[in-house]
Amino acid sequence: MSEIRIDKFLADRTKYSRNEIKTMLKKGAVRMNNEILSDPKQKINPDVQEITLNGKKIHGGLEIYLLVNKPENYICATEDRQHKTVLELVPEALRHKDLFPAGRLDIDSTGLVLLTTDGALAHNMLSPKHHVPKYYLVTLSRKFQESYVQSLADGMTLADGTVCLPVQTKPLTEKICLVCLHEGKYHQIKRMFAALGNHVEHLHRVAVGSLLLPPDLPSGDCLEIFNKDILQMLKADSFPEMCEQIVYAFSSYLINDGH
Ligand code: URA
Repeated sequence: MSEIRIDKFLADRTKYSRNEIKTMLKKGAVRMNNEILSDPKQKINPDVQEITLNGKKIHGGLEIYLLVNKPENYICATEDRQHKTVLELVPEALRHKDLFPAGRLDIDSTGLVLLTTDGALAHNMLSPKHHVPKYYLVTLSRKFQESYVQSLADGMTLADGTVCLPVQTKPLTEKICLVCLHEGKYHQIKRMFAALGNHVEHLHRVAVGSLLLPPDLPSGDCLEIFNKDILQMLKADSFPEMCEQIVYAFSSYLINDGH
């Protein structure tokens, strides 16, 4: 990142307005490499200088990538009048005004959501041409039937005539299966299993491309990842390879019946 005014940098990266930052600068709350800054016009380079606000380091990379373990009752939007949004899960030091969720999970679904400032990446991840595969552990209310594998692989037609692309599926326990989607239609997994005569009780997204949700990341926690992780994520592994990794990483989720 090239040089940027300290007041603009901090206003972009925190919840404070530029005026509030000016007041904080006057009070000595801002430091660059441990030296107090007071001039809002001071240019800084956050790639090489450590900036702190009230003692907390403020992230300086060009684009931000955060992996969130979304809990239930949060929605994937930047603002909402009724519900809490996934952006509220971001700790102050990682906040940025341009962060948005790249892709959606339903309010009652849990697991991996990527938040980023990188519009080009989000476009690439979600566009039908490049669509990056997404992996879900799906808990059904009734037993998984072997016949589902072929029906989903053939590409299902939903009740309203929506045609779905082929979906890869593997049963992991009696009622939990792994589903890999290559597109993101509205309530797609719930509607596909409804069309098969079953019902989805819970959906937990465990991977996007080859990027696995760290199984020990507590629900509601956020983890910063970097450009190199994103490049790795886009090189998606095959379904059998991902299956193996997911079963290994989420073995206790499977043993505890999706809890
Ligand atoms: N499919 C659904 O039905 N819900 C989600 O949250 C994701 C995929």
